[in-house]
Amino acid sequence: MSNDELYTGREQTLVKHFILQKYLERFAYIVGSHWDTLTYVDCFSGPWNARSEKFEDSSFAIALKELRNARNTLAKQRGRNVQMRCFFLEKNRAAFAKLKEFADSVKDAEIETRNATLEESIPDISDFVKRGGAKAFPFVFIDPTGWTGFEMETIAPLLRLNPGEVLINFMTSHIRRFLDSPQEETQESFKRLFGSGEFRAKVQGVAQLEREDAAVEEYARNARLVGGFSFGCNAIVLHPEKDRTHFNLIYLTRNLKGIEVFKDAEKKAMEVQEAARAEAQQRKRVASKGQSELFGSRELHDSTHYEFLRERYLAKARSLVLRALESKRRLLYDDVWTLALSEPMSWESDLKQWIEEWKDDGRLEVTGMKPRQRVPHRNEQIYLNWK
Ligand SMILES: C[S@@+](CC[C@H](N)C(=O)[O-])C[C@H]1O[C@@H](n2cnc3c(N)ncnc32)[C@H](O)[C@@H]1O
Repeated sequence: MSNDELYTGREQTLVKHFILQKYLERFAYIVGSHWDTLTYVDCFSGPWNARSEKFEDSSFAIALKELRNARNTLAKQRGRNVQMRCFFLEKNRAAFAKLKEFADSVKDAEIETRNATLEESIPDISDFVKRGGAKAFPFVFIDPTGWTGFEMETIAPLLRLNPGEVLINFMTSHIRRFLDSPQEETQESFKRLFGSGEFRAKVQGVAQLEREDAAVEEYARNARLVGGFSFGCNAIVLHPEKDRTHFNLIYLTRNLKGIEVFKDAEKKAMEVQEAARAEAQQRKRVASKGQSELFGSRELHDSTHYEFLRERYLAKARSLVLRALESKRRLLYDDVWTLALSEPMSWESDLKQWIEEWKDDGRLEVTGMKPRQRVPHRNEQIYLNWK
């Protein structure tokens, strides 16, 4: 089935799956080059509103396909024999029956499935990951439908898996309306989600977008601390028809290479997202007016919201970098890179532009580059010196 058939009307899922697929494509190859076993844990597997009979539009099938592709390439190119292990969890009984049927049909990977909630399955997941041995690397995907069932205390053992990486779908659209709810029960459930009540002060009395940013930042910061992750970033997935965020995909890792790969996936996903939103919005206009349009969806698309967001996060990232350079005066390019890419929609190409600009107006000197080298790279002891 084409992507149109699979994702029309749920373009946010297209973007989520695109990021998962693009990230795992490179993750599996890179990690499989050094580790003997790839372990994938899907804590909220579904299938959920899937249209493909082969579950091509489900996270578990997408992930397994990428692990398999990497394993085959590594076998061919490097003679490596990488093992694949998956743990698929699903609470709903009808969805689980389909998940189990899929898992039973897989013969080239070790797969365990559970028809249970995440809350009751943490020991089983931890045990499964441990059984992979010292040369296994786990990737955990947490993709809930709301804001319960994955409280910080619940997922703490998964966040602490080391080695390990995590991708969490933070359901911004569900949380948005309730963040300042006066109801004690709601506030208590948020406290459990965030792992602390500190989010409250950060989201109070600020405008909508700032409130969302603060909530995502606070959640990601807590998850990072609990898991002992060194780095994190998040990708914004927009509502297909409305100018607002559907969810944020929060990625946590202990390796900078992971950030590079995730940010590449995010950058490509933003193009896919704008194209899909253009189509969705044209479809809505045509349905409401009852007549087709003369031009294609891309030509007629109003990207103002996306551009506004990109400018907003670019300004934040640039100011983070500027402040760090002004106060420290001399910084390793790698550290500046980490800061610049910590905001969504901010990429290395942007950082390189700022560096050129600051060099041109005499405020910055770059040292440590080879004689013919034009742009800095990470891992080369290159320094940015603020004058
Ligand atoms: C958003 S859907 C998952 C979609 C899937 N990850 C994908 O991208 O194709 C969330 C799934 O989690 C299941 N679920 C909800 N609460 C759960 C819980 N506490 N533990 C395990 N599964 C749960 C739902 O039945 C649903 O199938």
